[in-house]
Amino acid sequence: MSHPASDITSVLKEGRVFSPSSEFSQNAHIKSFAEYEEIYNRAANDPEGFWSEIAKELEWFSPWEKVLDWQLPFAKWFVGGKLNISHNCLDRHLKTWRKNKAAIIWEGEPGESRILTYQALHREVCRFANALKAHGIEKGDRVAIYMPMIPELAIAMLACARIGATHSVVFGGFSANALKDRINDAQAKAVITADGGYRRGQELPLKPAVDEALEDCPTIKQVFVYRRTNNQFITMKEGRDHWWHDVVANVSDHCEAEQLDSEHPLFILYTSGTTGKPKGILHTTGGYSVSTYITTKWVFDLKEEDTYWCTADIGWVTGHSYIVYGPLSNGATSLMYEGAPNWPYPDRFWNLIDKYQVNIFYTAPTAIRAFIKWGEEWPKRHSLASLRLLGTVGEPINPEAWMWYHKLIGKEKCPIVDTWWQTETGAIMITPLPGATPTVPGSATRPFPGIIMDVVTKKGESVPDNVGGYLVIKKPWPSMLRTIYGDDERYKQQYWSEIPGCYFAGDGARRDERGYFWIMGRVDDVLNVSGHRLSTMEIESALVSHPAVAEAAAVGRPDPLKGEAVAVFVTLEGGRKGSEDLKQELREHVAKEIGALAKPDDIRFTDALPKTRSGKIMRRLLREIAAGSETIGDTTTLEDISILAKLREDEE
Ligand code: PRX
Repeated sequence: MSHPASDITSVLKEGRVFSPSSEFSQNAHIKSFAEYEEIYNRAANDPEGFWSEIAKELEWFSPWEKVLDWQLPFAKWFVGGKLNISHNCLDRHLKTWRKNKAAIIWEGEPGESRILTYQALHREVCRFANALKAHGIEKGDRVAIYMPMIPELAIAMLACARIGATHSVVFGGFSANALKDRINDAQAKAVITADGGYRRGQELPLKPAVDEALEDCPTIKQVFVYRRTNNQFITMKEGRDHWWHDVVANVSDHCEAEQLDSEHPLFILYTSGTTGKPKGILHTTGGYSVSTYITTKWVFDLKEEDTYWCTADIGWVTGHSYIVYGPLSNGATSLMYEGAPNWPYPDRFWNLIDKYQVNIFYTAPTAIRAFIKWGEEWPKRHSLASLRLLGTVGEPINPEAWMWYHKLIGKEKCPIVDTWWQTETGAIMITPLPGATPTVPGSATRPFPGIIMDVVTKKGESVPDNVGGYLVIKKPWPSMLRTIYGDDERYKQQYWSEIPGCYFAGDGARRDERGYFWIMGRVDDVLNVSGHRLSTMEIESALVSHPAVAEAAAVGRPDPLKGEAVAVFVTLEGGRKGSEDLKQELREHVAKEIGALAKPDDIRFTDALPKTRSGKIMRRLLREIAAGSETIGDTTTLEDISILAKLREDEE
């Protein structure tokens, strides 16, 4: 990183406190810390009352009979209620002046832009929903979506939601193999894709990966292909593959939204767990709608006239909740950008902020660290004066990156919301409310109203202030995952059995004397690489599927840019010797098995892996070796590591 070592401040000693300006607070939805605490306490005393008040801000076809049915660990929210999230994101606004408001402002990487008003988006969603129906897609079917960041990705999701088909979006950076596994696990009936998209000036083809995946996906009957890059080499399989523009050509632009049960499955999103097999996190309609709606409104202090931009890819939960469902259910204007932050130059994001006069900007710490590396001259070329609020998500933000963001992007006037949550939680759980909560660099501060969190020991006892422990959620919340698709037992096992009676998030944390939470990172075998979740087991199984590899162990090591980097230790078959060529081959092999995001950063060949007497790989040792090989420029990370190492020791 470019900052001098003397700038480094440990998070354990972080004392800088930043309060919102009185002007910001006066105009905010939640105006003071006292107001936050009042709402928080009210919600804690009567969570069902709190959530049902919020739920009433959305439109329901029929009201619920019971707010919560909780049979630990299975929750049903707004039981008996009927609604449709596509209706709440679209139709609800058409009755108002928002009809002609921009819903999605999109910019492609090559530079073209499109603006879809709520009415235009509604029309496109209805047309595509009718096309899906005409091709036999019905309520309850699963549909895989594998697309670049174009408006049709949001249209496809909203069209599925409209007819009650459950979507499973697979990030476009995943390989054919990863797509195949996800399609088969969900038994999807159709795939929605594009010929390709643009990334760093290159065409990134997608349809060929779909073709490859579908060689082994017996449940897929239909494939819909949007023409984005005009790729002339795409092949279309007769009877199975259809061009998007053909299927919407002659359909009605009227499609009634299905009246869905509150617990109707809205989407499955696969994420990495502690085993090799990704978990299909299942979210349902009612609770997810309510949580994403209110968190978007309060956390981003959303105003009617704001232009809001979340830079995530819709292939991750952040994009689901905070590009599509949260902003649109609020009737907001959401900016969507297709490509890389440094294309054609490292100021593309700052350029977009000025061009579209973005007011709220939500990105990942790993991106901020990349901007720091690219140099402050890039943001300094732009005014950025439209910004009034900044956010981060996906990994702990080191105080130096926070300060850079605060000074160079926020011009010392924009509150920063550091939001902690997960694919499983569906919506933001720990976060400042920008007009109310004084922020401290590196802390996600306090839980959102209605969310009861704690830091506990393995036995579930609260730990004292400033002592590291396991981060848990103690009460059910509306947007909680309902299960792991098709595997209730694994759901129970994974989230609800480690710590008695609580949802265990997999993270280590501590809470300070202010009641602020400091997230320290995963305590399980999940890595967080550039804000992307990867399981060490997944990488290990990819490696051992290569004929040269006998055994493999993957661990994370601190990386100043990516947060964590993937370090692997490999033993080879039959005394083979490792070489640079083989390293390259193994990297490519992992990219083929999972996706380029999982490519190991360091590969070490070894004669044997250190094991306990019972044969368990001693990961802690490997982590230390992996970390030791790098000079770590940030004591913050070191301190976290020692606490994490201790927690992990308890695990091993
Ligand atoms: O370790 C935490 C980290 O990201 C994990 C969840 O990853 P995923 O399901 O991919 O969702 C990412 C976007 C919501 C968490 O278990 N994480 C997420 N946000 C933060 C964070 N760690 C620290 N601070 C955050 N704000």
